[in-house]
Order: sequence, then structure tokens, then C-alpha cells
Amino acid sequence: MDDRTEAAKEGLAGAVPVRRNTTALHRRFPTIAHMRQHARRHVPHFVFEYMDGGAGADVGIAHNWAALDAVELVPRYGVMPSLPPVDVELFGRKYAAPIGIAPMGGPALAWPGGDAALARAAQRARVPYTLGTVGGITIEEAAKLAPDVLWFQLYRLARNDHALGMDLVRRAEAAGAHVLVLTIDVPVRTTRSREAAVGLGRGPFRPDLPMLIDMLCSPAWLAALMRHGRPKFSNIKAYAGPNASGDEVIRFTREHLGGAFTWDEIARFRDRWRGPLVLKGILHPQDAGKAVAMGIEGIWVSNHGGRQIEALPPAIDVLPAIAAEVASRAVIIMDSGIRSGLDVIRAIALGAHATFAGKAFLWGLGALGEAGPGHVIDLVIEEARAALGQIGAHSLAQARSAVTRHPGAFVFP
Ligand SMILES: Cc1cc2nc3c(=O)[nH]c(=O)nc-3n(C[C@H](O)[C@H](O)[C@H](O)COP(=O)(O)O)c2cc1C
Repeated sequence: MDDRTEAAKEGLAGAVPVRRNTTALHRRFPTIAHMRQHARRHVPHFVFEYMDGGAGADVGIAHNWAALDAVELVPRYGVMPSLPPVDVELFGRKYAAPIGIAPMGGPALAWPGGDAALARAAQRARVPYTLGTVGGITIEEAAKLAPDVLWFQLYRLARNDHALGMDLVRRAEAAGAHVLVLTIDVPVRTTRSREAAVGLGRGPFRPDLPMLIDMLCSPAWLAALMRHGRPKFSNIKAYAGPNASGDEVIRFTREHLGGAFTWDEIARFRDRWRGPLVLKGILHPQDAGKAVAMGIEGIWVSNHGGRQIEALPPAIDVLPAIAAEVASRAVIIMDSGIRSGLDVIRAIALGAHATFAGKAFLWGLGALGEAGPGHVIDLVIEEARAALGQIGAHSLAQARSAVTRHPGAFVFP
């Protein structure tokens, strides 16, 4: 039995050591789907609706999952003495696996203290961790927790000639973030019906009676809330005034953040940021080509996990066309729907260099609290190695030449 106690080395105030008994964890949560199932009962109902829901009636999420499930890999046998490693190099830095943590605004709602737990798990496992503009810890805190794997995601904050966005970039650079990710796929705020129905998404967080009852029915989540306090937009706080309350920071953020970067604005960030720059939310090969022609090093193929509008194509279905356009000139990243190591290998086989996941990590937090993200990473790595072994690929590079059947593949005119 592998019984590991991992005290947080440079923890934030209130961090609790993460104790992981991996054999017992595998029995309780043999897949990420099991963690999702448990998270549904383990966190308050309004929290689960926030972390699990998508745009409209969740059709975009369903399409993402179905599109990945439909990708078949044809095995070659008699060639596999042992399971291959899955380590990967991205932008000149080595990572343990082609899975990273996507930027998210809500880990601290999924599980109070969730941002720090994600950062620690990524550092421990050596996989990329992307802190979001509206994440729950500051860039500087994230750099302490995840110094070797930190990426930073920026939303558009255009007021005063992008003063705030540019300052966040300065802070990311000073803190040693390795990669800057510009998210371009939120030109508008759309309705996520499950969020709206539980009273989230508009204005400051004001728990009503049903929410309070929900919280009382989730004692472990509530205890984490007591330890870590209410979720906050930590990076933005510095700009909202020295004495700004949590609600004022939320209001300030809503006033300043919005719209999608234009190509001219992207060019300005390209000039400013000296490290690798990634555009997140690309779904058209021509946009990928345009970005690469501007000197962007990474193309993040994504439909925002089905959270924008339901008619966006699944990222996996546009991936081959985008890879055909730019894979020899840029790092191709894919997210939206990744729920297993097998999904990761499907994406690699169709042209991605690496994948990221959002909801899978939130389900991990929701099911297991601080120990969740580490278990998600362990499962994904184990499943990815098994998938390579099964199809007879000795490496991720070899998986790229696997024979596949991909019924949803987009053909662009
Ligand atoms: C609760 C939640 C909050 C998110 N917040 C952000 C964000 O602040 N910035 C961003 O670029 N993407 C955000 N995303 C999108 C993720 O980065 C990622 O693209 C998406 O979750 C991938 O799909 P998956 O959830 O199916 O893995 C968010 C996703 C979720 C689930």
C-alpha cells in the first residue's frame, strides 16, 4: 500500500496537509466520473451547479463528451514490452504528462482553498498549472506554490489603454510565470441556466436561505470555507482600492473585465510579453494561421468547455484541421471535454501536443477536497499510459501516427 503524507511546503495560511492513500483512493474513485458523481453530493447544490453546468441546456458539454467518445484508435499488437512514459516538452520546459490544469475563475467556490490545492498538485506532479485572471490566489502566491509549472491566463481589461491587463502581465513576468495565455473566446457573457437557476452569476455573492441550508448540509465544504474564507478575485483586489470589500472587488471586476481581445490588442501583448504566448479559444484554422503568423507560439483549441454557446463545435472535431494548418509551427493544446487519460491520447492522436482540463479538476476538488486534483492527475497519467500500451504506441509521438476513426472531424471549406 502506498501511503503518502504530503505536507504543504510553502503553504498559504490555513492550508492543511494533504494525506493520500492511493490504493484506497483508486478503489473509491477508479475514474474521474466516480469523482463527479461523489462531488454532486459532497458540495452544496449551488456549487455543483456552478462547476458542472454549461451554456443553455448543457448541449455543448454533451457534444464535447460525445465527440471524444466517438474517436476510435486502431491498435497494433505484438510490439509493447512495457508501458511507455508520457512526459512532454512544451515551450522548452519538461512536464510529466500532456495534461494541464486549465484556468478557472471558480476553484475556490468548488472547494474553498481550491486554487492553492490545484497549484500544489500541479507542482508536485510536474504538470502545467494555469492561474486565471479571476482565480482565487494572486500570481505571487501561485508562483510560490507552483514555481516550475506556472502559466498565467489573461482576460481583456481594456480600460485606460489596458493599464490593468499590462500590469498583470508585468506581475506574471516578475513572478516567473512561464507562459502567458490570452483568452479570446468570451466576447459576450452568455447565460448558464443552471447557475442562473441557483442564484449565481449576477452581482455579488449573497447566499439566500436555500444556499445556507445547502452549505449546512455539506459540512466538509463548510469547514473548508471557515478555514479559507469566501472566494475572492485575488489578483484584481490590488486595483480596487486598499479597503475594497469582497463585493466591491467583484463589482470592480465586472466593470473592468469584458469583451474579447482584437487582433490589434493581441499584437500589443505579443510585443510586451517576452515569453511563450498562447491564444486560448481558437476553433478555426484560419485564426490559428493568423495567430502563428503574428508570432504566437501556442494555439489552445477550445470551446470553453461548453460554457459559451451550445452551437460551438467540439474542440476535438476541429483539432485535426487546425493541426494540419499550424502543428509544425506552433504548440497545439486542446481542452473541452477531457475526462480521462484515454481522452488525452485521443487528442494526441488527432494532433494535439498537450491537453488541459477544467471541470475534471473541479470534480476532483468537489469529491475529495485538497486531495482531489492529485488523484485526477494520477488517474489521467495511468490511463494515458494504458491507452498507449493498448494501441502499441511507444511514445506520444508514435500515437500521432495511430490509425483513427473520427466521425465528427470538421472539413473546412
Ligand atoms: C468553473 C469554470 C470557470 C472557468 N473560468 C475560466 C477563466 O476564468 N478563464 C478561462 O480562460 N477559461 C475559464 N474556463 C474554461 C476552462 O479554462 C477550460 O477551457 C474548460 O473548462 C475546458 O473544458 P472542460 O471543463 O470540459 O475540461 C472555466 C471553466 C470552468 C468549468
